[in-house]
Amino acid sequence: MKKAKIVLLLLVLSFAQIYAQNFKFAVMSDSRGEVNGVNEPVLKSLIQHLLKNNPDLKFILFLGDLVDGTWHNSAKNFAQFKYWKKVMKEVYEDKSLVGPKVYVSVGNHEIRTPEDEKNFRKIFTGLPQNGPADEKGLTYSFNYDGVHFVVLDTDPYHYGDTKNTKGNHINWHKFLHPKWLARDLKKARAKGAKWIFVGGHEMFFPVGGHLRDGLANLGRGFKYPPDSTAKARLAVHHKLWKILVDNKVTAYMSGHEHLYAREKVDGIFQIIAGSSGAPVYDFNPTYDQGDKKKVGQEFTYEQALPYYKALGYNYGPGKNSQKSPDFFGVRAYHYVLFNVHPDSVSVKTFGMLIKKNTMTKTDSTIKLIDNFTIK
Ligand SMILES: [Fe+2]
Repeated sequence: MKKAKIVLLLLVLSFAQIYAQNFKFAVMSDSRGEVNGVNEPVLKSLIQHLLKNNPDLKFILFLGDLVDGTWHNSAKNFAQFKYWKKVMKEVYEDKSLVGPKVYVSVGNHEIRTPEDEKNFRKIFTGLPQNGPADEKGLTYSFNYDGVHFVVLDTDPYHYGDTKNTKGNHINWHKFLHPKWLARDLKKARAKGAKWIFVGGHEMFFPVGGHLRDGLANLGRGFKYPPDSTAKARLAVHHKLWKILVDNKVTAYMSGHEHLYAREKVDGIFQIIAGSSGAPVYDFNPTYDQGDKKKVGQEFTYEQALPYYKALGYNYGPGKNSQKSPDFFGVRAYHYVLFNVHPDSVSVKTFGMLIKKNTMTKTDSTIKLIDNFTIK
């Protein structure tokens, strides 16, 4: 009898092992729009589709630019944060979601004054408070079912002259605490995390619309070869990326570029889930485009070349003008759904396609636009 009990216990344990790490989470970002700073119709359609089709969803990572924001009008900004939460009501009221339900990160549209930062913390409660001392509730990490998640504030407010309404945001497109990140990831690896997902608003490798910033942050009018300022910025970028590579991070997810894109760089997936309503850009210009610019592109091919050279992109005839040859991207309003299994993570992206030569027009239903597996 005792033997039968032990066998039963072992069976239960092995099933628990098999079914551990079988859960879903979604990644979204950039829902800013014109009414109270939010693109309500698009954001609402996406979350309704997500919740209806995934009753087993556990949480959402929402990676910045939730709202349009305003320059130095904190009361208006606060009202926009509240409005965004109202649009997301169905998510916040869904009882099957866990924790704060939405793990938000700061983009470059939320925090422009110390007051905004205070309001951000006031409205987005329940987020882990284990980040660096000056970044509590803005940079943090958490574990769910043996999987480690890190959310970075990649657009911190610069505590300089608060009366200076121009150029007072010089810490944008940066993450200021690489040591904290390295420690956090090392600890997670030591504890045996099978998968590690890191998210932040800014991407490492721009794919369209923001070649000049992101975490490489080369600036407008960048010339090749890099001068000492650009070299220093690239060194910071490489150092941060190396922390992710050294700790074998599964994927880095971001927003900021209003596109859907994924590629694998140094064994890590960079997944840009860049529009839940913000106007959709076009991808980096390619050689065959010549001096023509597409709608939502900032540079011609010639203007983009110095950036491609500095960032080590595939450029020239027949190349995709991206960091990796396996790049895949779609112009769509979308969300990315991750289904975590013990030995793989299946990723499905659903979205509404944007019409050619427009940034906002769609007559598409929400459909599957990408499907791949991380092993
Ligand atoms: Fe942004």
